[in-house]
Amino acid sequence: MPPRVPVTVLQRFRGAAVVGALAIAGTVAPGAVAHAALPDPRPGGESVLSRTWTPALDPADPLVLVNKAHPVSPAGWAPDDLVRPDVTALGEHDRLRADAARALERLAAAAEDATGHELVLASGYRSADYQRRLYARYVDAHGRRAADTFSARPGFSEHQTGLAADVAEAGTSYTRFGRTETGRWVADQAWRYGFVVRYPKGEQAVTGYSPEPWHLRYVGTALTTFMHLADTPTLEEAFGAAPAPDYAPTGG
Ligand code: DAL
Ligand code: ZN
Repeated sequence: MPPRVPVTVLQRFRGAAVVGALAIAGTVAPGAVAHAALPDPRPGGESVLSRTWTPALDPADPLVLVNKAHPVSPAGWAPDDLVRPDVTALGEHDRLRADAARALERLAAAAEDATGHELVLASGYRSADYQRRLYARYVDAHGRRAADTFSARPGFSEHQTGLAADVAEAGTSYTRFGRTETGRWVADQAWRYGFVVRYPKGEQAVTGYSPEPWHLRYVGTALTTFMHLADTPTLEEAFGAAPAPDYAPTGG
């Protein structure tokens, strides 16, 4: 069973500094409660900062947690609302779930406005079967131990959910994304569009993967706003889920 221990925002929220920073930026009055200034996605009025974030088990839920401890389940699951975002794609894996596709279009347009560079989609939805072939190729080339640091085993990739997008700055390899102007802009701004940079630097012991500045995961702006304000770098931490540095002995 995946961990279901919810962590309240107030436990995680490194709040005072954030409120102070927002006050300095002029977005909230000094001393104001930070979440008064935040978008509130819930009709009931529950703030992103006071709600509990629990990972979903349903792969169709944008809050699904997929990592080395949590495969996509059922194993062969595929989304039923894949579309091609209106963003230049570099290959045949050019589809995302509809909400993620719309969000990527907005992200790409804003990135281009800000940097003058086009943001392109290098890889979106990948079936479990394609991930099997991709992972096998990496194992052949680099060995299983190394491959596990940068490629998910089949059934364990966020790309299978249709909610993950590898992106690049036009004209450069996606592996250079972190060193591009677009990559730096995305690292700062992706949260505003509902994406997290899923495998940040320094978090391999939590996420299981070496840094991938190009791998964006759509979760929606409520959770990304929380993660931004609470200075929570990983989905595992946001959900209060255990770190997933490795597979269980039988995993994958
Ligand atoms: N590169 C990421 C971890 C994947 O294969 O899903
Ligand atoms: Zn990826």
